[in-house]
Amino acid sequence: MTASDAVLGAPVERREGREKVTGAAPYAAEYDAPGRAQAWPVPATVARGRVTGVDAAPALALPGVLAVLTHENAPRLGDPDDPTLSVLQGPHVPHRGWFVGLVVAETLEAARAGAAAVRVAYETEPHDVTLTAAHSGAYVPESANGGFPAATEHGDPDGAFASSAHRVDVEYTVPPLHNHPMEPHTSTAHWDGDRLVVHSSSQGTTAVQKELARLFRLAEDRITVRAQHVGGGFGSKGTPRPDVVLAAMAARATGRPVTVALPRRYLPAVVGHRAPTLHRLRLGADGGGRLTSLVHEVTTHTSRVKEFVEQAAVPARVMYAAPALRTVHRVAALDVPTPSWMRAPGECPGMYALESAMDELAVELGVDPVELRARNEPETEPDSGKPYSSRHLVECLREGARRFGWEGRDPRPRSGAAGSLLIGSGVASATYPVLVSPCVASARALPEGGFLVRVNATDIGTGARTVLAQVAADALGSPLERVRIEVADSGIGFAPMAGGSSGTASWGSAVHEACARLAGMLAERSGPLPDEGVSAEADTSGTVDAESPYARHAFGAHFAEVGVDTVSGEVRVTRLLGVFAAGRILNARTARSQFIGGMTMGLGMALTEDSTVDPEFGDFVQRDLAAYHVPAHADVAAVEAHWIDEEDGHLNPMGSKGIGEIGIVGSAAAVGNAVHHATGIRFRELPLTPDRVL
Ligand code: MOS
Repeated sequence: MTASDAVLGAPVERREGREKVTGAAPYAAEYDAPGRAQAWPVPATVARGRVTGVDAAPALALPGVLAVLTHENAPRLGDPDDPTLSVLQGPHVPHRGWFVGLVVAETLEAARAGAAAVRVAYETEPHDVTLTAAHSGAYVPESANGGFPAATEHGDPDGAFASSAHRVDVEYTVPPLHNHPMEPHTSTAHWDGDRLVVHSSSQGTTAVQKELARLFRLAEDRITVRAQHVGGGFGSKGTPRPDVVLAAMAARATGRPVTVALPRRYLPAVVGHRAPTLHRLRLGADGGGRLTSLVHEVTTHTSRVKEFVEQAAVPARVMYAAPALRTVHRVAALDVPTPSWMRAPGECPGMYALESAMDELAVELGVDPVELRARNEPETEPDSGKPYSSRHLVECLREGARRFGWEGRDPRPRSGAAGSLLIGSGVASATYPVLVSPCVASARALPEGGFLVRVNATDIGTGARTVLAQVAADALGSPLERVRIEVADSGIGFAPMAGGSSGTASWGSAVHEACARLAGMLAERSGPLPDEGVSAEADTSGTVDAESPYARHAFGAHFAEVGVDTVSGEVRVTRLLGVFAAGRILNARTARSQFIGGMTMGLGMALTEDSTVDPEFGDFVQRDLAAYHVPAHADVAAVEAHWIDEEDGHLNPMGSKGIGEIGIVGSAAAVGNAVHHATGIRFRELPLTPDRVL
């Protein structure tokens, strides 16, 4: 075994694990510069309208209050890339929870008391926040999130469906969902003349730096953004959020360093959410269980501030061979908070609906659901016609079936019982695309020994530092412990965010290139290193392979076992087992954590996570973790993640596909399909709470 075989793929522990569990790892709220002030925002209390007056005097009279910023006195900002960041720039209130003020004070308590004392008067306007499948304002947009065409069509889906021997025509509903990372969105900003330094809880510092440059009309090199430790994001920190803009504004207005830590109850209105999706699926099949027609139509909402269209019909373009295929997205612009990315936007709700409908088709046909999927394997990607760089969906299904003990399962619904419990099992497929973006990195051989690798990656809890050190050690031919790594500082250079399951591929390609170059330089020289060491840089802008002649996706399969309590209506997931084909797995320990984390989030989506837009008041009803139920340990009995070895030479130097999101894709469908198997009842609206199931 060579050194590189040992390091790539090894279950290496996270480098910052000890710092994190001992509380020594600083998060964005913990940069306590001298004179640091705290701030608390004031959210709008109307669903739509305008601010007609602000009385800040009662707040300013309180001890410790330094300033009250509103649209009347806040610094004027330049045009943002993201209009949700135009905070305190005008009286218009586009949705409830939009920030209309910020109170800056000596302490967090004083800021909160000040925010409660500010009096805001509004003029209200009529609002509409309710999405229905037939919303009169719904339209087909130019494109959906990710730049995908909103609508595609092949063959004659209506005619083929009408003449199919077997048909499933069903509607599924996924409610709005919230990211709720453990660490709320937080930034600490301070100005040093015209230099701005911020510590921000963000999935990527480059995007924050660029947006702050636009807003504060500064050259990018006047702004430094750091995100050393980030307590999760799940997409909601993929773009800058109002905390960082407000912190920079408040710091400029008061001349003090300022921290803005958004209260959790304010997050749903201002950090994005997974938009609700209404799905209509029509699947036609012949007597042999082969799809003849696949139609997936999605209706969703966006805000009036910005168009974001959850691309939930996109996975139907990837999954199964169907000679007639139509996918459509429609969107209604409502007076709601602006939706955005949440773990596997598109694939997650889309595959919930598609994989539930496939299960319905399997029941209709009397074909085993694993077998049905195997029968509908496409030769090439159905929508694009491209060959797959690698596709091992069937292998995942078969390996999962073997590990789960699927064989011999009685397919009849309601065939398993234990006391007052109905027991059932279900399966669903998973997929997530392979994405990659340009990045810069450097590697230096240090005269005192060892290497320093710098890349502006962000570690949102995934173990990015650790796996990038493994990539570097592999390319350098060095023992892992001789590689130091610095990340999450915009001063290092540009990098894409930790998102789209693309971080490791993007940052890793640059790290690999810089380290391989350095290794080559070192091989050609002899004698001691100069005082500054020897260094190499990489910029993958010209080489990164974002467009490929191959269809590149990770695939997987989930198997779930549930017990449904016929007395209480409670559903418990007793087992969840996933098998994934995601290229080369670079760190067995952190990869397993990612898969299990995604699957657990899918379990929450299936059973407990639910949000509602209040038609009268306009904001989400479930705004905190007391009302929005994420799984707790007792809800998660046995979750297992496995993978198959997949060699794919069309990816990146590491041979890896992304793993951050695929775990959540399809897992809710596996649970829902198991509930149908247990009860014989098909529930088509999430979550499967006792009030619905009983
Ligand atoms: Mo993920 S939703 O791409 O951060």
